[in-house]
Amino acid sequence: MSNRTFPFPFTKDQYAYSNNSSILDPPWTLTVTEDYEKEITLKRKLLQQNHSRCFRSLPISIESQWEVMRLVFTQLSEAYPSHFSFTQKGKEFQFQNHLLNEEETFIFRDCTSIELEPMDLAGRHVQEDLILMGDRSDGLFLEAGQLCFPSNWSLAFVLGMEFKSIHYPVPGITDNGFIEKVGRFISRIRPNTAWERKNWSITISEKLDTPLETYADWGRMRQEVTEENAGELVHLRVEVQRLFRMPINHDILFSIHTYLLSLEELIKNEQWLMLFYRNIKTLDDDIADYKGISQYKKEMLGFVEKTMAEKEKMNR
Ligand code: HEM
Repeated sequence: MSNRTFPFPFTKDQYAYSNNSSILDPPWTLTVTEDYEKEITLKRKLLQQNHSRCFRSLPISIESQWEVMRLVFTQLSEAYPSHFSFTQKGKEFQFQNHLLNEEETFIFRDCTSIELEPMDLAGRHVQEDLILMGDRSDGLFLEAGQLCFPSNWSLAFVLGMEFKSIHYPVPGITDNGFIEKVGRFISRIRPNTAWERKNWSITISEKLDTPLETYADWGRMRQEVTEENAGELVHLRVEVQRLFRMPINHDILFSIHTYLLSLEELIKNEQWLMLFYRNIKTLDDDIADYKGISQYKKEMLGFVEKTMAEKEKMNR
């Protein structure tokens, strides 16, 4: 994508975990970008080829899934009225996707009126991955998800897991009670309210689908990075994550919109270049390992330093 609309994540010189969430007004969880058709095509292809990897649900999630579907169609039609419409005639709901020239009709809460589970159907009209977190008396549990573009994690592995357990693989995330505090923050989110935060990592090549299950295919590309090809191969990967408390079931819809920007594009913005450099240079080793950066950190920084030196020379 171009750097004009890229959600650049760094605001400080050094990276540390933080609850960098801000409230959204209006509380919309979805964004349509210029890559809509390309990404929807890829998403549907992945779902067709690897359904059990990309969609999972527990039976308990069905009621909330209906709520998610209604919410997704309502928000799309409100946020992008020229692209989508959503109407009700008697018992029947009709969603029209004018961008794809498609139509979905269904009777709310009647599973025989649709061929897929509700969230699996709704997710095929949005660029975001959708995760449903059931809010139970003893915590927040991952009860359903449509996940096509994960950053090295597995939906099959986390299905049914509680919020804190999901985060155990992240180094240092339990230090100073960080993840418990985030859990308490989520439990206080009010119905019909949405919060947004950014998470970042790095991907080699312009590849959105990097699930744990296919690590052997895409992970080895990390060894191919050199100072010469880093600009083209290395991509800053930003997930715009939104948390929305649903008004009926009070569960949480967690949407993840993934953006990729090559270093070649990133370096065109001098402030981004500087912030990127400082954050990577000072990144803790265990976080660099977790994010898979250690393997090519030297080559990538070599490219960035060379670029900065060239720019400085030109500015003189
Ligand atoms: C409720 C919705 C959320 C879900 C389902 C979720 C799920 C996940 C998953 C599956 C991972 C990858 C774990 C692995 O490597 O196996 C992860 C990483 C992480 N999560 Fe969450 N998360 C949620 C919300 C949050 C929030 C609100 C925060 C912070 C305020 C947060 C902070 C992090 C951090 C810092 C990482 C490490 C990411 C990286 O360094 O690339 N998460 N999360």
